Amino acid sequence: MSNQSNNQNQFANKSQAWSARFSEPVSDLVKRYTASVDFDKRLALFDIQGSLAHAHMLTAVGVINEQDHQEIQRGMAQIIQEIEAGSFEWLLDLEDVHLNIEKRLVELIGDAGKRLHTGRSRNDQVATDIRLWLRAEIDQSAQLLLDLQKNLATLALEHADTILPGFTHLQVAQPVTFGHHLLAYAEMFNRDYERLIDCRKRVNRLPLGAAALAGTSYPIDRELTAQLLGFDEVCRNSLDAVSDRDFAIEFCAAASLIMTHISRLSEELIIWMSPRVGFIELADRFCTGSSIMPQKKNPDVPELARGKTGRVNGHLIALLTLMKGQPLAYNKDNQEDKEGLFDSADTIRDTLTIFVDMVSGIQVKANAMRAAALQGFATATDLADYLVKKGLPFRDAHETVALAVRECEQKGCDLADLSLVELQAFHPSIEDDIFGVLTLEGSVASRKHLGGTAPERVRIEAQRILDK
Ligand code: ARG
Repeated sequence: MSNQSNNQNQFANKSQAWSARFSEPVSDLVKRYTASVDFDKRLALFDIQGSLAHAHMLTAVGVINEQDHQEIQRGMAQIIQEIEAGSFEWLLDLEDVHLNIEKRLVELIGDAGKRLHTGRSRNDQVATDIRLWLRAEIDQSAQLLLDLQKNLATLALEHADTILPGFTHLQVAQPVTFGHHLLAYAEMFNRDYERLIDCRKRVNRLPLGAAALAGTSYPIDRELTAQLLGFDEVCRNSLDAVSDRDFAIEFCAAASLIMTHISRLSEELIIWMSPRVGFIELADRFCTGSSIMPQKKNPDVPELARGKTGRVNGHLIALLTLMKGQPLAYNKDNQEDKEGLFDSADTIRDTLTIFVDMVSGIQVKANAMRAAALQGFATATDLADYLVKKGLPFRDAHETVALAVRECEQKGCDLADLSLVELQAFHPSIEDDIFGVLTLEGSVASRKHLGGTAPERVRIEAQRILDK
């Protein structure tokens, strides 16, 4: 590219969209290095939405006239059509989504298109686009988190009475109901939902009007632009508005926690599905076979979800690191905010969509769960609590039960298999009501307080979630 083209109108020359003052073109590598159009073109419709609101506001305050406004609307309508039809030509030379769209607008409508950028900069434009896009993403993923809670609650209601061993240290601890176990995840996903909704409040603020960094001398009406775009508030400092990406970092942190919870659930699904455990089956559509071992049915989807947690955590650290060294106001570093943010949003949306479906397809093998709960002396704590209710101090009761467990281990039986006479040898206060306590059903039914594992409590909690 020669110098002469730099003297032309900025949009007449495709290779250097931003200025006539440069004396040599950038190399192809630098062009690719600095361009963002390959990934920020997905913001196109939000960019146009922001531009239309800006044009509306400029017209309302008399900076551009009604005819220009109509031309801009007409041009943008055509550009939307071209983008949706896939015929819009994206040019690397035009660097990013903003310049590509603006150049096409000028091609279509001439001078009116050149007036659109009055009182605006790509700095406040891009911050606005990301916020509009992220708000829509949050709304989708928040809804998926509600759907997931409901599907967990539906399965919990079905399995309010199904008993499996509860674990600590992955050792059998005490019996719990499967419904209660599922509702633990519903609680986690509910906090994730709350976090997204809270993050949305800070995403939903308008940067436009900050222009490059210092605001603008035109008599703009930022409240009007905010209202047109459905923003709750206006960013109150122009330097901050164009430069901070804390709203995106917050979203990435919320996304990391969503994936952390998904990953824990995945780990359990994988363990439960292992033939050694055999508590559940996942529907075939979430599993694959092996190319060499014909007997295999692998839980690929939960494994991948567990794995994808890593990249979402990585994006959080990348964004934090991107931000930490930047002086006010906008720096080109910020262009690097997008790919990780996009990927985090895509990953949680896709993962949650799959999990909503996968959870309702879980096939529960209640007999295997029950058999496992009968091993490992899961009701030992219940026996100790029984002795306490008969007047023993808890530490003595704990010791007494430990002796009983040792005897059962030697005999190869469960506590509930001991006769009343054998049990009374450990403590004379034991009577035949003990068998109500030593059974799995008696154990879980007694924990009926708020937050407990009893079937009646699970039904209340599951119904509460379904009624939300
Ligand atoms: N593509 C840029 C970004 O993503 C848009 C803003 C460019 N601003 C600038 N001063 N170069 O951040």
